[in-house]
Amino acid sequence: MSHDDVSAAPPVVIDTVAGVRSAVEAWRASGETVALVPTMGSLHAGHLALVDRAAALADRVVVSVFVNPLQFGPSEDFERYPRSLDADRALLVGHGVDAVFAPHADEMYPTGAALTRVTAGEIGRRYEGAARPGHFDGVLTVVAKLLGIVTPHVVLFGEKDAQQVFLVTRMVRDLDIDTRVEVVDTVRDHDGLALSSRNAYLDERHRRAARAIPAAIEAAQSAADRGIDAALAAAQSALAGRPEVDVDYVAVVDPATFDLVPDDHRGAARMLVAARVGDTRLIDTALIPLA
Ligand code: PAJ
Repeated sequence: MSHDDVSAAPPVVIDTVAGVRSAVEAWRASGETVALVPTMGSLHAGHLALVDRAAALADRVVVSVFVNPLQFGPSEDFERYPRSLDADRALLVGHGVDAVFAPHADEMYPTGAALTRVTAGEIGRRYEGAARPGHFDGVLTVVAKLLGIVTPHVVLFGEKDAQQVFLVTRMVRDLDIDTRVEVVDTVRDHDGLALSSRNAYLDERHRRAARAIPAAIEAAQSAADRGIDAALAAAQSALAGRPEVDVDYVAVVDPATFDLVPDDHRGAARMLVAARVGDTRLIDTALIPLA
């Protein structure tokens, strides 16, 4: 069966670095291109959008599923993060995935704490990085390892995690990693909430309250032609109506630098929103063209 056939069988799972390397070597030897979609599993339609784009861009698609302990803080949800490899494989059927790379933690981190790490630098300490110290160092370290293992021609990330996209793109450039970063638009639920594996934590009341987050971004987009203050005020007022939504930050940044934009900024800008709803931390983002 050629790899172009959309097979009804779930994709093969490879759990060793050597195993995925030898699969990729064989593909590359026959001139095929390779795409990597890094995930932490508990897959949803947002992840599938990345996978579908990957299948359109490359001959072979590897999806990694690894809940990376390095990017979780000590009081975060590493232990309770949803894990569902069988369901993930079933969801990937028909999406042109050639292999799922699902290593155990000791396969990725055999040296434990002695591991060499990538640091995300100053931007990595802002916004999500301020709320989650060390988070982006953990993300960049595991992404660098995955890129070293799979050596993909293209690697795909979701715009939803825009600061992650910014930092990975910069790492790829700064460390001369030979891959292309492709960014895929945020996939949203029917009520606007960005799909996230963490949405599974929300009960019905919190799920309803969480709609204020995409509503705030939409309000900011509508007000953007009146400038940054109007956009921020519109976002804040959408969030203020919801006491269950505990806002961590609402920021407007320059997409090219991730610096906060000055008050007189015009043109491209990105709004970042993070909030805690019940026990669940949610983030969202969109471009807001400031007039
Ligand atoms: P995870 O949260 O599983 O997300 C994997 C990829 O899916 C990320 O690139 C993320 O931006 C994208 N994604 C998540 N929700 C999305 C949505 N609603 N629409 C579009 N894309 C979406 O992000 C991580 O894992 C990890 O930090 C990882 C990069 C795998 C490193 O451990």
